[in-house]
Amino acid sequence: MPIVIIDGKQVEVAAGTTILNAAREIGGETVPPAMCYYSSLDGSGGKCRTCLVEVSKGSEKDPRPMPKLMASCQTPVQDGMEIKNKTSERVLDARKGIVEMLLANHPLDCPVCDQAGECDLQNLSYEHGLAKSRYDFKRREFEKIDIGPYIKLHMTRCILCYRCVYTADQLTEKREHGILKRGDAAEISTFIENALDNDFIGNVIDVCPVGALTDKTFRFKSRVWYTKPMDAHCDCKKCEGKAVLWMIGDEIARVTGRKDVNGEVKDFICNECRFEKKEMKDWTVEGPRKIDKHSVISQGHYTREVPSHTPLLNKA
Ligand code: SF4
Ligand code: FES
Repeated sequence: MPIVIIDGKQVEVAAGTTILNAAREIGGETVPPAMCYYSSLDGSGGKCRTCLVEVSKGSEKDPRPMPKLMASCQTPVQDGMEIKNKTSERVLDARKGIVEMLLANHPLDCPVCDQAGECDLQNLSYEHGLAKSRYDFKRREFEKIDIGPYIKLHMTRCILCYRCVYTADQLTEKREHGILKRGDAAEISTFIENALDNDFIGNVIDVCPVGALTDKTFRFKSRVWYTKPMDAHCDCKKCEGKAVLWMIGDEIARVTGRKDVNGEVKDFICNECRFEKKEMKDWTVEGPRKIDKHSVISQGHYTREVPSHTPLLNKA
């Protein structure tokens, strides 16, 4: 079992563990941001470079530092490795550059974007971004597209992380979209304007780190921090039926999968649970959800009682 040190904290992990996952074992500030890696999606990672770290000691056998910053989601640990994340000036400087590049084409439309408050790029630019853009060129422009009955694509917000492509590929029976073209012309697109329409496709909304894929049943209904998240489950034949209900008063404004401390969904939910079960009678409410990931929505203290007509498991 390799023992590694990240930002001065020691952890022992299984052989083959990546630096990112070793840091996640430690948790907190030690964890590098990750915009494209998603642990349940094969092949994810290695696209966005937000997770770069400095390897100041390669291993016990070969202590030479690695000359370049390394993508922590792709680099396996070695015994005796020493890694700097927050404690490295080089990393912080590189991260600033990456945020600036991601924002070169990303519109700053957070005030009207449904993802605001739970957007990884918003959080990242708050921590590492410049207050002013140095980008003078015309930004990429795309029409907003309806891809299927429930999902809207804002291509201008996409950071080409590939998560939605892997989700559709690995979770649904038929993938009908991908990244077309290359370089600054690259875009997420469906094949010949096909709709994204299969039982689990709604999960692309949950894995998208920005507001490029939004839920048409929730768009512009509320800012997410005005809603109250509740854990709930239902008896579903297609998925585990474990979800979060985002409530406005006694009404279900939207339904999402449950995200862990790293912002990843483990139990993906089906379209029926996400888009069609919007009545309290469809769900058994467990209680208020604690939002772990650092974000404006985790600042809320959701102590509101579960609506009284709902069957309760734990009344918080
Ligand atoms: S639409 Fe979202 S999930 Fe898909 S590639 Fe773009 S940013 Fe990633
Ligand atoms: S999370 Fe590692 S490159 Fe994107």
